[in-house]
Amino acid sequence: MHFHLVSGGCGFVGRNMVKRLYQTTQDKIIFVDNLSVGTHPSTWLDTEVVRKDGDLEVFGPDERLLFLHQDFRKFLRDIIDDENYIRKTYAPDFERFSDVFHFAAIVGGRSTIEGDPMKVALDLSIDAEFFYWITRHKPDRTLYPSSSAAYPIDLQTEGDAIALAESDINFKKMGEPDMTYGWSKLTGEFLAKTAAEHYHLSVTCIRPFSGYGEDQDLTYPIPAIANRIANREDPVEVWGTGKQGRDFVHIDDVLDCIFWAMDRVTDGSAINIGRGELLSFIDIIKTMCAIEGYDPEIEQLLDKPVGVFSRYSNMDKVHEMGWRAKISVREGMRRVLEAQKGKV
Ligand SMILES: NC(=O)c1ccc[n+]([C@@H]2O[C@H](COP(=O)([O-])OP(=O)(O)OC[C@H]3O[C@@H](n4cnc5c(N)ncnc54)[C@H](O)[C@@H]3O)[C@@H](O)[C@H]2O)c1
Repeated sequence: MHFHLVSGGCGFVGRNMVKRLYQTTQDKIIFVDNLSVGTHPSTWLDTEVVRKDGDLEVFGPDERLLFLHQDFRKFLRDIIDDENYIRKTYAPDFERFSDVFHFAAIVGGRSTIEGDPMKVALDLSIDAEFFYWITRHKPDRTLYPSSSAAYPIDLQTEGDAIALAESDINFKKMGEPDMTYGWSKLTGEFLAKTAAEHYHLSVTCIRPFSGYGEDQDLTYPIPAIANRIANREDPVEVWGTGKQGRDFVHIDDVLDCIFWAMDRVTDGSAINIGRGELLSFIDIIKTMCAIEGYDPEIEQLLDKPVGVFSRYSNMDKVHEMGWRAKISVREGMRRVLEAQKGKV
């Protein structure tokens, strides 16, 4: 019996990962979340809680899903202080973690990234304690999600935007990343490389571009736009001019790429996860409206934060290595629209 760990396991990426691990393995999954943003597993797991003990809730008839409602840093400190802590407190059959997926972070979309940068900077503390712990515990494999926000912002302006390639981040010649969010991700990547090189651990970094999915919350643009269109709003609001562009990639593709990458990239270096396609928010609105068959006016909200003008990936390296996103933008938008219509 293997044990896997998912931090931030009730957030958007984390809960999709927990469900995927539960469906595709027979292993036990410990997932930790303080529910500052994440939603309680009873709202998104198909299986029931079978046992509760303090801050532990065990789900599923086979008791393979162990949810801990607590700050991930507290969990790390407990298991660093006492290497038998998990066995004594939560799971008598626990020995060590096989795969570790670290999704606990303060993200919060554009309004938090620009509106409360020092709150986002707390990610530095979560990541530092996380990387210290893996060098003690030595899990078989570690996944660290960096972000496209780590790329230099001067490569993402209206005049100078390029498809961002992995080599555009160079620790010997640094550019300025996107606010404290991008800075914490750069630091995380540096720690990941150090963990791999200095402590001989298998660490994989990913730089997802704009991940989206049916169960993402409405602080993110794709579900927010889908919600407006599912409600047949006219005009449909867009933040900024709507001409700013991103590289949208469906969460199922992100998870597929993570598992593919963990078998191949083990030295702490990072790969892009995107479609390599730049779409503006107006393109997204038009795609969804075409699916729905209506043609509303678009109203620009020029006082809203919009971030860089253009952020999209150069996927050449990953394509050459053999992975490619499968879910088209139209299919992904259709799925999100259907989910939002279910809520209307
Ligand atoms: N979603 C994307 O497209 C995307 C793109 C690039 C990078 N990432 C990275 O992937 C990771 C997960 O992103 P997400 O979209 O799922 O974000 P999210 O906000 O939905 O999930 C983060 C989770 O961490 C939890 N959390 C925060 N601080 C915690 C703490 N101290 N202890 C325990 N839990 C804590 C929150 O409650 C939340 O459930 C983040 O590191 C993010 O930077 C995501």
